[in-house]
Amino acid sequence: MSQETQENIVAGTHIWVEDQELAFIDGIVVDVVEQEVEIQTSDARTIFANLSKVYPKDVEAPAGGVDDMTKISYLHEPGVLHNLATRYEINEIYTYTGNILIAVNPFQGLSNLYDAYMMEQYKGAPFGKLRPHVFAIADFAYRTMFNEKKSNSILVSGESGSGKTETTKMLMRYLAYFGGRASAEGRTVEQQVLESNPVLEAFGNAKTVKNNNSSRFGKFVEIQFDKQGKISGAAIRTYLLERSRVCQISDPERNYHCFYLLCAAPPEEIERYKLGNPKSFHYLNQSKCYELVGVSDANDYLATRRAMDILGMSKKEQDAIFRVVAAILHLGNIDFAKGDEDSSVIKDDESKFHLKMTAELLMCDPHALEDALCKRVMITREEIIKKSLDPLGATVSRDGLAKTIYARLFDWLVDKINISIGQDPRSNCLIGILDIYGFESFETNSFEQFCINLTNEKLQQHFNQHVFKMEQNEYSKEEIDWSYVEFIDNQDVLDLIEKKPGGIIALLDEACMFPKSSHETFAQKLYQTFKDHKRFIKPKLTRSDFTIVHYAGEVQYQSDLFLDKNKDYVVPEHQNLLSASNCSFVAALFPPLSVETTKSSKFSSIGSRFKLQLQQLMDTLNSTEPLYIRCVKPNNLLKPALFDNISVMQQLRSGGVLEAIRIKCAGYPAHRTFSEFLDRFSILAPEILKQNYEEKDACKWILAKMELTGYQIGKTKVFLRAGQLAELDARRTVVLGGSAKVIQSQVRTLITQKHYNAICCASVHIQSFCRGELARQYYTYLKRATAAVKIQKNLRRLVSRKDYFNVKAAAILLQTCLRTMAAQREFRYRRHARAAVIIQARWGSHRASSYYKKLRTALVFTQSRWRGITAQREVRKLKMTDTKEAKGEEISDLWDSHQAVQCEVDELNALHIKEREAAQEANEPCTMTSKTLIDVQEAEVENHSNQTEFQLSVKESEGTPDANEPCSTYKTSISVEEAEKIETLMTEVEKMKEAEKIGTLTEEVEKLKALLRAETRRSEYAERQCLEAWEVSEKRLKKLEETERRVYQLQDSLNRLLFCMSEQFSQLKTILRSSLTSTSSSRPIIREEHSDTSDNSDASSSDSDFTFPAPVLTSANFSSYKPNALQLIVQDLSATEITGCEKWDKGKEAAFDDYF
Ligand SMILES: Nc1ncnc2c1ncn2[C@@H]1O[C@H](COP(=O)(O)OP(=O)(O)O)[C@@H](O)[C@H]1O
Ligand SMILES: [Mg+2]
Repeated sequence: MSQETQENIVAGTHIWVEDQELAFIDGIVVDVVEQEVEIQTSDARTIFANLSKVYPKDVEAPAGGVDDMTKISYLHEPGVLHNLATRYEINEIYTYTGNILIAVNPFQGLSNLYDAYMMEQYKGAPFGKLRPHVFAIADFAYRTMFNEKKSNSILVSGESGSGKTETTKMLMRYLAYFGGRASAEGRTVEQQVLESNPVLEAFGNAKTVKNNNSSRFGKFVEIQFDKQGKISGAAIRTYLLERSRVCQISDPERNYHCFYLLCAAPPEEIERYKLGNPKSFHYLNQSKCYELVGVSDANDYLATRRAMDILGMSKKEQDAIFRVVAAILHLGNIDFAKGDEDSSVIKDDESKFHLKMTAELLMCDPHALEDALCKRVMITREEIIKKSLDPLGATVSRDGLAKTIYARLFDWLVDKINISIGQDPRSNCLIGILDIYGFESFETNSFEQFCINLTNEKLQQHFNQHVFKMEQNEYSKEEIDWSYVEFIDNQDVLDLIEKKPGGIIALLDEACMFPKSSHETFAQKLYQTFKDHKRFIKPKLTRSDFTIVHYAGEVQYQSDLFLDKNKDYVVPEHQNLLSASNCSFVAALFPPLSVETTKSSKFSSIGSRFKLQLQQLMDTLNSTEPLYIRCVKPNNLLKPALFDNISVMQQLRSGGVLEAIRIKCAGYPAHRTFSEFLDRFSILAPEILKQNYEEKDACKWILAKMELTGYQIGKTKVFLRAGQLAELDARRTVVLGGSAKVIQSQVRTLITQKHYNAICCASVHIQSFCRGELARQYYTYLKRATAAVKIQKNLRRLVSRKDYFNVKAAAILLQTCLRTMAAQREFRYRRHARAAVIIQARWGSHRASSYYKKLRTALVFTQSRWRGITAQREVRKLKMTDTKEAKGEEISDLWDSHQAVQCEVDELNALHIKEREAAQEANEPCTMTSKTLIDVQEAEVENHSNQTEFQLSVKESEGTPDANEPCSTYKTSISVEEAEKIETLMTEVEKMKEAEKIGTLTEEVEKLKALLRAETRRSEYAERQCLEAWEVSEKRLKKLEETERRVYQLQDSLNRLLFCMSEQFSQLKTILRSSLTSTSSSRPIIREEHSDTSDNSDASSSDSDFTFPAPVLTSANFSSYKPNALQLIVQDLSATEITGCEKWDKGKEAAFDDYF
């Protein structure tokens, strides 16, 4: 950290401070005393730290971090770490540091991050325009290669499990997507390039503690492109396959995937290779881990077979490959027992079976195999000796054979893939992708770690040089004045390891060539040689370990196995055995060595060979434009969303990211083209926009205005020193903040105004709604009130109507009763009258008829007597006068008289009929008084009798001597018999007429009786009704009496009340008078008045001025009240009251006025 930055740390500054658990923790400076800083950390601790361990924190850093580390205001370790952590939290796994891509392993599939749409997005997009992405790096490499015809290499590094292989696959996918050709064949170059991955992974990857699919070899894939930018070929170079894993694995790791895949192959293949459960094989059962979570070995086996098909491996070749794999498994199960002396023999039948199987699968002689495993041929100058190996030696020999076979098989596969894909000799552009293990430091670090760390030292040097060179080139290009920037150069470490002669590898080779040397002699040699080397440390308490100070830290190596592992040779017995195999594939894996080779180089050093390979790789890389991807493993638990600061910090250091940052910071870390600078900072000097400045001058103007020093102005760019960009940004932020405030205030005003308007509008709406609601409610109320009034009205009307009808009905009833009574009375009277009339009529009729009968009898008798007399006289006359003519005249006279009598009878009959009708009329309406009727009847009867008497008198008068003549004539004209006959006839006629009359009269009497009965019934019914009505009216009358009695009682109590009141009032008056008398004894006027009062009225009258009369009615006289009696009483009372009042008014008017 620069001195200037440290100077800025004062109390209140936000800082990062080193922390053991979190690497860095943020806090606020409380106090600074010289170099000691007191800090309040964010987890509320107070700590003290040295000023050198404190780093300023950018409090205004964006919440989501920045996508390029060079944009961080304070470019230091905690800043970088915090930025990565912040981005990782929001699943932004990629971040640039210039053109280096830092990729943090998400340990989870991120949706759509690698799909075709994403690829299209990055196609041709300028670098840095879109979010950082592995596709952006691939696209940049592809564009540079295609446009500038420059080869590129992408170096993917990081520790095991950090995501190198996945990143490499993404790069290859992207390049295959845009550089591939549409081919219907299905075996295109790019497809083969992609399909090489599963095959190489099956044979070169294994589950380790750090990664379930760890590549146990380094890989550099060269993808060649033709002039059209299409993939035309590819070459795969592999480095340092971890051979020891074939024979030795530790729990919970696994051997190479291919062994497990084969054990999960279809049954027929298992049967063919006599395989079974992986647990039954020594090379697999050293660890208890056999299966991988989420991975199906059976499926992967088929996928590998498919990939092999695509890569052009024949079925025969594929069978041979898996046969060799199966043979290695069987080989591992051959155990040895101690034989005679120091020799060893195959342990048991099972081992013999596996030996047989191995020989069978490798198609070699089983005895030769047994010999090759248990015996060694020693060639001395004198003779060739065959020496037996002890069981341990035999086991080492067995494992050596297994490792050699596997390594040869892997190399064959790589060669085969390269041949299949094919090289394009005409291609002059390539993109190389390096997927190689990162720097490693374990508890035990052996030869492999040594080689791996050498590789990383080499790559780091390449990286440093490149980054530095790029900076330097930039400065030179821009012709700025710059002094040499120091950067950590690891050339000294590289010299320590690979210098020839004198480097560690050279010394190792030397040691290997001396048969007597051991790892201890080798270590001693190292200690001696590098005693004073600052990169070499001899650890205490060890005899053979040594420590190298690598760029990424110190690593202590155990030299025990260095010599063995460095020796790269195949035991001749093994070589001979397998080159003699009947299987051409196996034989081809072990081609016979030429005689020269055998003789010339007895020893081949793996270290040297690897060094050579590495040099070739570096040459390739140096000939290309490198791009770097640094993969970071966020935690060792391989879990998503966990960010272990310390581990990541360590990886960033190892990966050279911080070194690159340091290099940048040492020079001019921020470069901006003039236009970019103006775009960003012209806001700091707005006046320049008004004047017509050149871009360069405008930049100078701004920088001068900001009073910055130490910056450089290049030809096209402004170069700023560390922190200056941050300062400019800070000033810019202030200006922007001011502007933002103005904008915000305006916007807020607008929003508030809008909000206010909206609220106003809403309130108006609410008010109108409320008013509407109230109006509606009021309307409803009015409606209800009107309805209530209507209902009341109707109800009242109904009640009144009911009352009215009740009264009316009562009145009608009363009337009815009264009328009924009158009618009954009338009816009774009429009935009596009618009965009387009937009786009279009957009596009259009876009297008349008996009189008539008597009269007739008398008449007949008289007539008969008369006729007899007449006849006697006639006879005598006849005797005296015998003239016939006189007799005839006498007969005719007699006939005439007979006719006259007959007429009289008829008239009498008619009279009788009239009489009856009159009687009937008198019976029915009873309008005619019976008296009258009787008079009439009597008159008629009298008349009739008069008539009869008159007729009789007439007849008698006729019968007198004046009438003697006709009689005598008659008596003379008719004979006696004839007269008797006539008389008889007459009697009969009379009888018949009588009978007829009686019948008719009887009928009429019957009818009258019936009518009388009906009338009687009706009158009885009416009587009954009348009685009921009378009863009801009686009841009502009683009720009325009761009510009126109550009214009277009320009146009585009212009167009493009034009486009481008057008494009280008189008392009051007395009191007032007495009080007046007592209080105003000195007032003669009052006394005067008092005396006046006593003068004018006596004491009783004065007291009763307000006294109401006592009730006048008693219960005795009340009981005999009459309707309106109450009214009378009330009137009486009021009259009394009025009288009293008048009296009082007259007498006490003045006194009353005085009191009130
Ligand atoms: N970009 C990625 N997205 C999702 N998972 C990833 C990604 N990179 C790595 N991984 C996970 O991390 C594991 C280890 O990655 P790998 O590339 O094999 O590591 P390395 O090659 O560095 O040892 C993978 O098996 C995969 O589960
Ligand atoms: Mg890998």
